[in-house]
Amino acid sequence: MQFQGQVTLDGPSGTGKSSVARAVAVRLGAAYLDTGAMYRAATVAVLTAGVDPEDADAVARTVGSASIEVGTTAGEERVLVDGVDVAARIRGGEVTRAVSPVSAVPAVRRQLVDQQRALVAGAAAVVVEGRDIGTVVLPDATCKIYLTAAPEVRAQRRAGQLGLTDEAEVAALAADLRRRDEYDSSRADSPLRPAGDAVVVDSTDLDRDAVVDRVVSLALTACAGA
Ligand code: DC
Repeated sequence: MQFQGQVTLDGPSGTGKSSVARAVAVRLGAAYLDTGAMYRAATVAVLTAGVDPEDADAVARTVGSASIEVGTTAGEERVLVDGVDVAARIRGGEVTRAVSPVSAVPAVRRQLVDQQRALVAGAAAVVVEGRDIGTVVLPDATCKIYLTAAPEVRAQRRAGQLGLTDEAEVAALAADLRRRDEYDSSRADSPLRPAGDAVVVDSTDLDRDAVVDRVVSLALTACAGA
């Protein structure tokens, strides 16, 4: 069966969301949009301009005049800020530490949400991942998934991706995940939370392939008739 429609995949960091979202997009033959990459790109614009990420007015002005381009193909990561390729830089520690305050600025969210809606408007089938996709960006989406996992499991997975084994480093990473969850869930504008009509998938005891199978089957069955 050929999937048509929008799949939203929201949830906190370290759930394997990006890897799942990309694999689901490939399986469904759908376009893919990583909205976290857009907030990270906006953060690059802020840091490049030498602006304090906590200075909301300056952040809004800087991001407002930046050109942020992202690709919509699962297989290739394309992220440009003012024409410069920042695909590698957006994953670095400097950006990761500064992205929460940047993404909490309402003018930044309005700008990027408009851009996200425009990017997916023409796609017959698309998987969009983020924090507020089912609640704010695409409230009428065909299929909404909220991916979660126990915090300690999320920290272990992130440590594995980064090749960290040192106990103190893993503990620092767990503390950073908790700090970002707390920030993203408690911000006034578009806090992280499941949409009322989202299916919650808990990946604590599931490996990545099992989560991908579950989301693909939800998209093709339970969500397909919506
Ligand atoms: O998914 P990620 O770790 O790449 O997201 C980076 C940050 O961007 C994260 O701290 C929360 C924020 N974000 C957001 O506020 N809204 C989204 N739709 C996606 C990400």
